[in-house]
Amino acid sequence: MQIEWQVAPRKQWHADAAVFFAFENAEGRLPGLDRFVQENGAWLGRSAAIGDFRAKPNDVAVFYAPPGEVLVPRLVLAGLGPADRFETEKLRNAAAYALRKCRELNVGRAAVPISALEGLPVEAASALREVLVGSISGLHRFTELKTRDLDSAQGPQSLVILSENDPAGDLADVVSLAESEAAGIILARDLTIAPANVVTPAYMAEAARQLADRFGFKTEVIDLESARSLGMNAFAAVARGSHEPAYMVVIEHAPEGTENDPPIVFIGKGITFDTGGISLKPGDKMEAMKQDMAGAAAVLGLFETMGRSGLKRRVVGILPCTENMPGGQAYKPGDVIRTYSGQTIEIISTDAEGRVVLCDALAYAARKFAPAAIVDVATLTGACIVALGRQVAAVMGNHDGLARSVLEIGEKVGERYWRLPLWDFYFESIKSDVADMKNVGERAAGTIVAAMFLKQFVPDEIPWVHLDIAGTAWTDKDNGAAPKGATGFGVRTFFELARRWPELKI
Ligand code: BES
Ligand code: MN
Ligand code: ZN
Repeated sequence: MQIEWQVAPRKQWHADAAVFFAFENAEGRLPGLDRFVQENGAWLGRSAAIGDFRAKPNDVAVFYAPPGEVLVPRLVLAGLGPADRFETEKLRNAAAYALRKCRELNVGRAAVPISALEGLPVEAASALREVLVGSISGLHRFTELKTRDLDSAQGPQSLVILSENDPAGDLADVVSLAESEAAGIILARDLTIAPANVVTPAYMAEAARQLADRFGFKTEVIDLESARSLGMNAFAAVARGSHEPAYMVVIEHAPEGTENDPPIVFIGKGITFDTGGISLKPGDKMEAMKQDMAGAAAVLGLFETMGRSGLKRRVVGILPCTENMPGGQAYKPGDVIRTYSGQTIEIISTDAEGRVVLCDALAYAARKFAPAAIVDVATLTGACIVALGRQVAAVMGNHDGLARSVLEIGEKVGERYWRLPLWDFYFESIKSDVADMKNVGERAAGTIVAAMFLKQFVPDEIPWVHLDIAGTAWTDKDNGAAPKGATGFGVRTFFELARRWPELKI
């Protein structure tokens, strides 16, 4: 979908449908909508449908112009809910629902007037950014593996931003910013939703290489043999059960002049399929475990977004990619492994494999890159879904400022996080009789205990946060800008973290 501007007097605006927004309740009409309706024949006032449209979040109604010569025959009105409960997320989702309605109606040229954003409690530039991200990502579907039953309705060819004045300041930059973000989200979603026989560790490595080719990033793909000789025995242990070659993928964005800056390192769990290994998972819903590389996918999504937007900041991505399979060579409960950090770990459950691959990636990041900060992101624990549900990710770490930044940025971009504590006593349950620690402790506080394990591999002086996205990486129902399937959760938070890094003063 092409995003373009039409800068012209209102009377000359033309589109197959114009998208507007409204707050719940009769007085909830925004000024731009009222003007448009008055000038275009007051369809809304006369329409019997007005009483049926309550402008609740997710509500969409279509109004048609009265007969006669009109340049905009349809008005697609999307609900935002009550004005005092407004969040940018509601606007993003409303735009997604509106554009999906346009697709249903086979609208070729959809439009959003800038004036439709007047009266919202956010600046026009931020509002437009949400509308565009919601529109683009809300329309995207993963159809690559379908040969039939494809929905015949194509999405709009163009989304036109209607304005009476030339866009200036922030508004002018917003289109490419939003397109960059949406592309990152879409990449993350596609990688996650595609099945594990397609998205293998080799595929993830290739995806990183392709990003590097397009945007001039550096990549280093560490194969299993090199990983072993570097001492990444924990990563290698998880990979042992699988016949798919495993890779520790390193991707680096170091634009000119930043090569010697301490980088922000993003580490994404890249288990392309998690059977549980010898501690085999039950079969029911096991197919969902193709999503276990959503962390790695979100990091690649970040690189897509950074590449497109030309962000001038040094950022490194590290993606431990492997399957977790049972087999004659697979690692076993009771095994003790000497990790890259030198610390030894006793395996209690081979299904707690995420922390096992991440511990080597964390220690490698700390030693190799002297990072300004480390952010790791992982579909790590089912316990996170128990604790926070499917719309909230957990954040834990060793640095208050960094954790608070994630919370604050997450709220702005509509990715919800909640902080969990990492008090020292949580280590008690992973004390081991034979090694420095066990990979699993008691079930209680499972998300925190997993983070406590990871904490052992990050030097205290490096600001670090761990994000558990087990609940948020996937949605079983259409959810506004995130249709059913993978969500791309994390991409926007990471991009804002990288973009706003200096002002965060970490
Ligand atoms: N990948 C899973 C966690 C997960 C569960 C992600 C559901 C997304 C949705 C992880 O590797 C795992 O199996 N964790 C175990 C840990 C346990 C053995 C301590 C879990 O949560 O049951
Ligand atoms: Mn597992
Ligand atoms: Zn897993």
